[in-house]
Amino acid sequence: VSLDETVDSMFEELDRLGSDRILEELCPYFGVVWPAAQALTEWMAQFGSGGFAGRQVLELGCGLALPSFLASRFGAKVTAADLHPDVPKFLKNNLAQNAGIEICFQPWDWRDSTRVPTQWDWILASDVLYEKEYPEALVKFLERHLAIGGRAVISDPQRPYAERFENLLSASSLQAYKVERPVLGSKQNCVLFIVERV
Ligand SMILES: C[S@@+](CC[C@H](N)C(=O)[O-])C[C@H]1O[C@@H](n2cnc3c(N)ncnc32)[C@H](O)[C@@H]1O
Repeated sequence: VSLDETVDSMFEELDRLGSDRILEELCPYFGVVWPAAQALTEWMAQFGSGGFAGRQVLELGCGLALPSFLASRFGAKVTAADLHPDVPKFLKNNLAQNAGIEICFQPWDWRDSTRVPTQWDWILASDVLYEKEYPEALVKFLERHLAIGGRAVISDPQRPYAERFENLLSASSLQAYKVERPVLGSKQNCVLFIVERV
């Protein structure tokens, strides 16, 4: 059984049971670089450093934060956020092994963004649409926190709630389109939602 199938079936079961328990605090989903993070980072590499240099970048649900590492390498001012309490320990360790990369960590939860202070030129996130309430929370977050002229890229391995996210985006004040990308070593293509606030 693949990791993706396990995550999907676990959340479908949670949904069926009607449980409102949030498992993030228990499950170390951050412990691998997910294919969606790879797809997002490859997209960024093709986009190039020009659009990132000197810009304020926020990565939500960063986990091991691969896209944040590239954004910093591109010269962006990067904040990586995740609610799992172990994420900053791994980030610190990974930063110690990557000289020249600077990433500020924040324990932000995208469901409650009252503590998130500014508007962002870029908001990045990968594999964050796996729970029923997340599409709505993330669209709200983007509407509130994406700067005018800013861009968000949300990468997803086509989990069940990705379609809900797409529908909510269409009904929002944001402009969005999607691209599909194969990921090396993964059977499933990822979809990237490119979201702009004009
Ligand atoms: C499937 S993992 C993806 C990690 C990383 N983005 C990647 O693609 O490799 C989902 C991540 O989102 C984080 N997360 C889940 N719910 C969150 C929330 N409401 N606010 C912030 N982070 C959250 C989890 O702790 C986990 O690190």
